[in-house]
Amino acid sequence: MFDPASPPVWIFAYGSLIWRPGFCYAERARGFVRGWSRRFWQGSTDHRGLPGAPGRVLTVTPEASGSCWGIAYRLDECTRDATLQALDERERGGYERYVVDFHCNDGARSGSWPALMYVAGPDNPNYLGPAPLASIAEQVQRAHGPSGSNREYLLELHAMLLTLGIEDDHIQGLAALLRPSAPPPTEQAQGDAEERPHVRSA
Ligand code: SIN
Repeated sequence: MFDPASPPVWIFAYGSLIWRPGFCYAERARGFVRGWSRRFWQGSTDHRGLPGAPGRVLTVTPEASGSCWGIAYRLDECTRDATLQALDERERGGYERYVVDFHCNDGARSGSWPALMYVAGPDNPNYLGPAPLASIAEQVQRAHGPSGSNREYLLELHAMLLTLGIEDDHIQGLAALLRPSAPPPTEQAQGDAEERPHVRSA
């Protein structure tokens, strides 16, 4: 239930929530969180891959010298609870909510305040962990799931980071390794995706 006295809720986005938030927000700001790095280390069997043929999607991993740049969204108060519920559902493949300090760096706007961030840690069953960049790119090139191709996930993110003026070596390295076009999904993968219940895309 909406409580006008409660503090605003911000979500810090570093992956698909940057380019496809899929929820109403009151405002957004560019900035970063310290001590975290963005990595394609999380397996996806519900959005960008399938059970037995997982895709690779983003999580953040603690790294003392790292900073992860992205977008923070202030949730619309009237739809806040429903949005959080929908996000928990969308990120249910292994992510947990963390509270982090968001550092705003958006034109003339600065400052820092708490935000929620979805983190898929090494203990979740879909976690894949580090791998050589070429192997990650190969897996991304191949994988496809109910929300679309894994390739789209990477390329949309890469394009949005460029638009936002955010440099990320991990993402740039992977985008450079992708071949021009992905093979079409097999009939089997397509059939499986159609039989699965509708999920919000990520
Ligand atoms: C995020 O975008 O912040 C979480 C990971 C994802 O959904 O790709």
